Formats: sequence, C-alpha cells, structure tokens
Amino acid sequence: MKITFITSNQHKVKEAKGIFDNFGIELEHVDLGYPEIQGDLVDVAKYGAKHVAKRFGKPVIVEDAGIFIKALKWFPGTYSSYIQDTLGNKGILKLMSDIEDRYAEFRSAVGFCTPKTEPEIFLGTVRGSIGYFEKGNYGFAYDPLFKPEGYEKTFGELSINEKNEFSHRRKSLEKFAFWYKDYRGD
Ligand code: IMP
Repeated sequence: MKITFITSNQHKVKEAKGIFDNFGIELEHVDLGYPEIQGDLVDVAKYGAKHVAKRFGKPVIVEDAGIFIKALKWFPGTYSSYIQDTLGNKGILKLMSDIEDRYAEFRSAVGFCTPKTEPEIFLGTVRGSIGYFEKGNYGFAYDPLFKPEGYEKTFGELSINEKNEFSHRRKSLEKFAFWYKDYRGD
C-alpha cells in the first residue's frame, strides 16, 4: 500500500516513515506546504487535506501539530510554528520563568482525503511537561523542552525510534494506518 504525505517538514517525513514501516505502507513524500486556515488543528488538517487531494488528484495525508502549554492558556497551540520561528524555545522558557505548573501536551491531527471524498481525521496526544532549560540534540523545534510523562529525558534526548514509540504523531499516524489498511475506496 502507498500513501502520499504532503509536508515541507523533513522531520515529520522521517518519523512517518518509521511508523508506516510497521504497517507495510509505503510513503511518497511531496515537499510542499499548503494553505493553513485559522482554526483548531482539526480545521487546519481537514481544509489542508481537501485542498491538496483536489490539487494532486489522488488520496493524500497532511498533518498539523502543535504544543499546548496549560499555564499559558494552551498557547502556542496552532501558532506553534510561528512562535518557534519568532520567540523560539528561549522565549518560551522566559515566558515560563515564574511558572510552577509546567504541564504541556503535543497534539497532532492527521487529515486524509481523496478528490472524491470528505476528509477523515485521526488525532494523537502525548502528555508531558516543559523543562527549565533545553536538553538534547535530537528531534526539532520544541523537542528539547518537552519531557513526556513518566520520563526524565526530553524528546530532544530521544532517538527518532524512541520518540516514535509514543509521540503524538505516532498515535495519530498509527490510527490512520490501522484504518487505511482496510480502506477500499479510491
Ligand atoms: P505544523 O504542524 O507544520 O503547522 O507545525 C507545527 C509546529 O509545531 C512545528 O513547526 C513545530 O514548531 C511544532 N511541532 C509539531 N510537532 C512537533 C514535534 O514533534 N516536536 C517539536 N515541535 C513540534
């Protein structure tokens, strides 16, 4: 089986390949962004999947994700990409310097769509906390800040295979993969 993943994020592609290997799903990557509407992750993934399925004339997936920090009223959330490019991890640490409640979660929404159907959405979340400084050289963006629940290491200290065991993206892509294995549409 094969699926086309539209994303301009190479890290997401590597993670997705590792996850789909377990399901015998071959991943074709198209290195492109897509229009992101205002809204929550589900809105963004739905609109994006529909848009690219029409544009490429075949079944596709897109994935929208973000980090949601409780004490910051779930900021940066859907603005994660923009905030990473502007404030960066140092800016987040500064915003949180006096905050004791470090709870945060990564959330992921995978959108699947074909040119003839409405989008299907698959969600994944991983619970954790924001550290007091950046740690680790693996991964990308917020990974060095985020300690998954029950672990002493940040995502930035985990290899891609370790992160793939329980990340938000693992959960959403795995839900999609289970569903897609039995998919008989076009
Ligand atoms: P988008 O899903 O491409 O809109 O980007 C969401 C943003 O959230 C990314 O650019 C990263 O800044 C952040 N993000 C999403 N998933 C991860 C992750 O697994 N690790 C670290 N940062 C992430």
